[in-house]
Amino acid sequence: MSLLSVSGVTQRFGGLTAVDNVSFSIAAGEVSAIIGPNGAGKTTLFNLISGFQAPVAGNITFDGQAITGLPPHRVAARGLVRTFQLVQLFPDLSAQQNVEAGCHLRGSGGLWAALARTPRARRELAEATQVAHELLAFVGLEARADLPAGALTYGQQRLLEVARALAANPRLLLLDEPAAGLNAIETEHLAETIRAIIARGVTVLLIEHDVSLVMRVARKIVVLDFGRKIAEGRPEEVKNDPAVLEAYLGGVDLAPGAMVAEAARA
Ligand SMILES: Nc1ncnc2c1ncn2[C@@H]1O[C@H](COP(=O)(O)OP(=O)(O)OP(=O)(O)O)[C@@H](O)[C@H]1O
Ligand SMILES: [Mg+2]
Repeated sequence: MSLLSVSGVTQRFGGLTAVDNVSFSIAAGEVSAIIGPNGAGKTTLFNLISGFQAPVAGNITFDGQAITGLPPHRVAARGLVRTFQLVQLFPDLSAQQNVEAGCHLRGSGGLWAALARTPRARRELAEATQVAHELLAFVGLEARADLPAGALTYGQQRLLEVARALAANPRLLLLDEPAAGLNAIETEHLAETIRAIIARGVTVLLIEHDVSLVMRVARKIVVLDFGRKIAEGRPEEVKNDPAVLEAYLGGVDLAPGAMVAEAARA
């Protein structure tokens, strides 16, 4: 059974249909990706899936249960957690504290119990310290644990966001352009990290402009253009799809592989 299922989902802003009747499903245990030109509706689709916006039409089910229109914290408590296109860390808190903050989405006592300092909350705080320690090591930032997040390089901040999202113990992790602004070495480290996330049993859905990264890590790709799904399939299918080449290159007839080069430049 699919872990995530999106059916006929639509979002409008005034006269603009940002997401137009989009349907697809995501299998558990693998990396899937959403690609498409700027303004295609990718982030809006993430907002709809993660509860930051409610769709004007359509249904979203996660693990067989409807989540359409649920607020973000309830979606997260069910195990569906996202990162943002722009870095959203607490810059003055340490890397360790940023990841500990992510633990409060774990669904049990939550932030209020932590503030009330109940015995359970004290246990959870100790656990958060341990979880954050492990996750910082997982993304390769253990040596940066005590630095303020704002003092990390951009690439390290993006990894810290992944660690913070993992702290919420997701079953499905949505990553919005995790490789944006990363150099080639950092991108390779990110690809390894994404594979390692799958090995932990967490399913990944990413939005990414770096098509060469997508081709390497994703088993399934959904392509959006002007809010519509124009293609869906395995990387090798999508790469040679005429509608995809048209969307990326405006219909110019180029050899297969050109889309990759074009998108990597974007
Ligand atoms: N809150 C909003 N109000 C009005 N228009 C919006 C809003 N959010 C997005 N849009 C518009 O909806 C369209 C889709 O935007 P979205 O951010 O989802 O695209 P995207 O595929 O993520 O693009 P990018 O690759 O540049 O991140 C764009 O035309 C955008 O200007
Ligand atoms: Mg976007």
